[in-house]
Amino acid sequence: MHDSNASHDECDLPFIPVAKVGEIPVGEGRTYEAGGRLVALFFDGTKYMAIDDLCPHMGASLGSGPMRDGVVVCPWHAWRFQLCDGAWCDGTPRDTPRLRVDVFEVRVVDDRVEVRVTPPRPLVTPR
Ligand code: FES
Repeated sequence: MHDSNASHDECDLPFIPVAKVGEIPVGEGRTYEAGGRLVALFFDGTKYMAIDDLCPHMGASLGSGPMRDGVVVCPWHAWRFQLCDGAWCDGTPRDTPRLRVDVFEVRVVDDRVEVRVTPPRPLVTPR
């Protein structure tokens, strides 16, 4: 059966080159435009991780926020998001599973870091 809510089409989306290996210093992030969206790409020294760049609070660029232990801190009001799944770290147990930023698949091909950018999904904000 076909599930219209599943990410069934994501495998058809192309990987888009956004950065060169070595371009992002260890422990930092950078913001790139790809697939019509802004992508925050981080490098922790071993792997790259990509999330939606726009903070769901007031739209700050998460790619410019400090990153530590797999969590990025928004540079404007310090909301924190996990890079592995995009989950907001600071909500109540009721809010936290619902509020998250999109996470994008990343791969490295030769000296290129590529991201598979999915279309935006409806934003859920806490009350
Ligand atoms: S804009 Fe990110 S916490 Fe306010």
